[in-house]
Amino acid sequence: MKAISRRDVLWHGPVVMVDSNLDFLKQVFQALRETEKDGLLTDRRDEGLTGISGLKTVGALQRLVGLFAGDPRACYLEIGVFQGLTLVSAALQAPGLACFGIDNFATLDPDEKNKEITTERLQRFGAANATLIDSDFEAALAGLDARLDGRKIAVYFIDGPHDYRSQMVCLLLALGHLHDRCVIVIDDANYACVRQATADFLAGHPDFKMVFEAYSPAHPANMEGAELERWEEGWLNGVNVLVRDAEGLLPDMVPPTESDKTRHFNEWLVHRLRRAELAPEAVALADAICIGDMAAEEKARKALLEKYGIWRDVSDGRYRDRNTYSTGLTEGRFTNIPD
Ligand SMILES: C[S@@+](CC[C@H](N)C(=O)[O-])C[C@H]1O[C@@H](n2cnc3c(N)ncnc32)[C@H](O)[C@@H]1O
Repeated sequence: MKAISRRDVLWHGPVVMVDSNLDFLKQVFQALRETEKDGLLTDRRDEGLTGISGLKTVGALQRLVGLFAGDPRACYLEIGVFQGLTLVSAALQAPGLACFGIDNFATLDPDEKNKEITTERLQRFGAANATLIDSDFEAALAGLDARLDGRKIAVYFIDGPHDYRSQMVCLLLALGHLHDRCVIVIDDANYACVRQATADFLAGHPDFKMVFEAYSPAHPANMEGAELERWEEGWLNGVNVLVRDAEGLLPDMVPPTESDKTRHFNEWLVHRLRRAELAPEAVALADAICIGDMAAEEKARKALLEKYGIWRDVSDGRYRDRNTYSTGLTEGRFTNIPD
């Protein structure tokens, strides 16, 4: 067993002594089981603390940060703050724990109010231990050393952009900053590309194990009424929870992935086309054509041409296909070797 100093873990019940990794893993399981049963640990919805994470997702973060409340070396980090629901909830549950939230407010913010709402909430709820980092997640992760000031990420909530690469980069760039006993909560695991990134990360990092997964039958945007309410009280758009398990105490468990990789392969086919940036609009137009919906086709054609207007100057100068973006790259270069 690894020599780890005994420390108190303050958690909404009696003080629990944790002195082995197995004890710690049991605490994580207990936190997740309790979340499955009871959902939120502290409910501040009446005070206006709302957002777009499932109540169980928030409840899990509330309980997990509690496991590190007495550890001055630990911190909480989240990518994807939106209006501050998860950041404020985590920070209030462990007032002694430094909490960081990264968001560049690039999406889901049509009125450009989310930064202001988050800042107001951090202040109104008195989350003095929370810091909002207004930045692209990749730039912020690259410069994390200066922010963390020697702390390690004990609870890491990934809820930003959900394309495969972003998911993977969130995991890889954080690796060197993770606490010996970290818990990684990956939101929106309903998406196949999110599950694939989790599975690929686990395959390459056997010292991490998945301890819990949960999915709902569709994205909340495609549900309504009682069905939507049910999943809003749960893990909403799915979750994968990973822990560091350096001693290999837990069995392998991987999220389900698709055997057909056509969409992943299409990334390469689309990326090399000169109009690649128009892909979402082009596929929406294809959909309208396929189902013979003339009104939708007209609307989609307009949206495509609008986007073309934005990318015209850049994309007109490219080849029709097989763009490699390698012009001007070195014809051969060595790294430096020490004398
Ligand atoms: C689903 S929301 C987060 C929800 C939030 N955790 C909550 O509890 O309500 C996703 C957030 O990721 C942010 N985001 C998207 N792309 C980003 C990027 N490249 N860097 C940083 N944040 C990004 C968006 O601005 C958005 O606020």
